Amino acid sequence: MKKDLLSILDVSVSEMDRLFRLSDELEGSKKKPLEGKALALLFEKASTRTRVSFESAMLRLGGHSIYLESKTMQMSRGETLGDTAKVLSSYVDIIAARMYKQSDLEELGKAASIPVINALTDLEHPCQALSDVYTIRQLMDPRGRKLAFVGDIAANTANSLMVAAAMAGMEVNLVGPKNCKPNMEYVKAAGKHADVSIFSNQKEGLDGADVVYTDTFISMGQEEEAGKRRKLFKDYQVNRKLMSYAGEKAVVMHCLPAHRGEEISAEVLDGRQSVVWQQARNKMAVEKAILLALSNQA
Ligand code: CP
Ligand code: NVA
Repeated sequence: MKKDLLSILDVSVSEMDRLFRLSDELEGSKKKPLEGKALALLFEKASTRTRVSFESAMLRLGGHSIYLESKTMQMSRGETLGDTAKVLSSYVDIIAARMYKQSDLEELGKAASIPVINALTDLEHPCQALSDVYTIRQLMDPRGRKLAFVGDIAANTANSLMVAAAMAGMEVNLVGPKNCKPNMEYVKAAGKHADVSIFSNQKEGLDGADVVYTDTFISMGQEEEAGKRRKLFKDYQVNRKLMSYAGEKAVVMHCLPAHRGEEISAEVLDGRQSVVWQQARNKMAVEKAILLALSNQA
């Protein structure tokens, strides 16, 4: 693997498979391969799952983590990201950062001499995508299956997930309003591995889907556009009607946090097709593998 995991585009198919094998191996293992190592979690935005699963992953591997909320750091008073990265590199062994801008994360990665992991930016959520594909693999052989991403098909999660799912051999349907244009760089990257199609018609987009995935309509940093975005995506709520287009056996995924009654109905989120809790649990399993894989080559 490369020094950093800044983007899903940094991971090859064989590296993804290796991460999944490592995740399986680490489940239930009592070994402490990261004893004496420290992880800095540098977060500009809120988090429940990513923060806690990384902290717990590090603990289970024998290491320690330090949560750094950016607003309590000298960064908030103008210290550059480059200087911050250089200093952190002399104290800890690995950084996981949740930043507003992908370009800031890349600046951090360039200046840090230690591995830097993308824990979400405006553009990507690669650890989420990897653990989501790991969950899909637990449920079915992904090859030749179809994933329909419904709603904000331009979101960070959509970008990373379409590539990871296609790398696992899944056909990808992006189902959203005409005025929500997916990022073509990711559509092209995913298209190297499997077919990617874009739909505004819900019935056509969900037809034959094995996995139906959605995310919030209002990502962190988009709060000012909330009203406009709620209107734009209102016909793309994953509810019983939409699920009827996908078929009985389809599973429903959501990276969480969910907004019941907005991008997904409570009935579907809590219903029998939902695998969201298994999905959330698996974040830690895959993050353990990512931490170990990146540490071993540092
Ligand atoms: N799915 C996810 O990244 O959740 P958090 O924002 O709670 O970390
Ligand atoms: N797209 C969402 C994902 C949250 C895990 C956001 O960026 O807020």
